[in-house]
Amino acid sequence: MKAITLRRPAGLEHLERADLADPGVPAPGEIRVRVHASSLNFHDLGVVMGRLPTDDGRIPMSDGAGVVEAVGDGVTEFAVGDAVVSTFFPCWLDGGPTLADFSTTPGDGVDGYACERVVRPAHGFTHAPRGFSHAEAATLTTAGLTAWRALAVDGALKAGDTVLVQGTGGVSIFALQFAKRMGATVIATSSSDDKLEKAHALGADHLINYRRDAEWDAKVLEVTNGRGVDHVVEVGGPGTLAQSIQCCRIGGHIALIGALTGGAGPVPTRDLMRRQLRLQGLIVGSRKHQVDMIRAIDANGIKPVIDRTFPLDDIADAFRHQAAGKHFGKVCLSV
Ligand SMILES: NC(=O)c1ccc[n+]([C@@H]2O[C@H](COP(=O)([O-])OP(=O)(O)OC[C@H]3O[C@@H](n4cnc5c(N)ncnc54)[C@H](OP(=O)(O)O)[C@@H]3O)[C@@H](O)[C@H]2O)c1
Repeated sequence: MKAITLRRPAGLEHLERADLADPGVPAPGEIRVRVHASSLNFHDLGVVMGRLPTDDGRIPMSDGAGVVEAVGDGVTEFAVGDAVVSTFFPCWLDGGPTLADFSTTPGDGVDGYACERVVRPAHGFTHAPRGFSHAEAATLTTAGLTAWRALAVDGALKAGDTVLVQGTGGVSIFALQFAKRMGATVIATSSSDDKLEKAHALGADHLINYRRDAEWDAKVLEVTNGRGVDHVVEVGGPGTLAQSIQCCRIGGHIALIGALTGGAGPVPTRDLMRRQLRLQGLIVGSRKHQVDMIRAIDANGIKPVIDRTFPLDDIADAFRHQAAGKHFGKVCLSV
């Protein structure tokens, strides 16, 4: 079967097309999936650029969606022909988080979905939402579930809450969409007025260009009449966290998701304490969270925003497109 492998020392020039052995027949408890699509995440970019070192020959990509081709003995949840989507933590099925690393994550600690076929334990997949293309389904594994967990699980978002989403990448656009469908007011920031217009078209109520308005936290306080937001979808990390703390309401919630501005930095701990904020770190979510999210999507009809889809052979171009930061929402691969 056709696949893409990442050779050491990594980097886009070390993404190679490979012809690998077909994965064979599923054992008991496994399913065989014809992968049709994947989607790019900041994490995948870190892997292919070598910032997150992996074994030589790793098949990249944590997200995968496709069709079940065969089921092993004992598998009752899936049948041949079902449209499925992979999970980020194939071993985290339910309950609280148990993992703080990517050793079991496809495309990092184990092989991912830049390939035509996989045979994996059935619990590494869920059904895809009804009516989704494979590319749309593939956006859910990482970006969709992270946004869902931040707001619906950890945030316990309720109608009338106000949510700040930072930038217009994959996670933030899902957060915007979920928040609007759940009855929240959304404040969106971006470095680009064009992207802010697109966020507005998706329902964002207030728009802030963080490049022009360096004091965007003051703007957030202004549009919330000094109260601040109930939830911040914090993808910036150390470069934005201090401002997020200032514009989160007293007793509010910051979902600490991303590290776009770096991996460490000073935190204004006194303000965090005085404002009695809940700063919740998270990595994606469990299979149960994914099942819940997909039930919600089936009910509310949101569709992922796909900026562009590249063929698998053009995976390096897809990562160049993502790294250039011109995208709005998700970048996908068709397999
Ligand atoms: N913890 C988790 O489970 C988890 C899961 C998924 C992603 N993440 C992390 O979340 C972050 C975003 O991931 P993604 O996949 O959504 O990335 P992405 O699609 O590449 O989006 C990145 C976007 O972030 C915005 N941005 C960059 N610097 C910013 C800043 N200083 N302030 C505000 N926005 C900024 C930009 O939006 P504009 O172009 O509109 O300015 C950029 O397009 C990454 O750090 C990623 O590693 C974490």
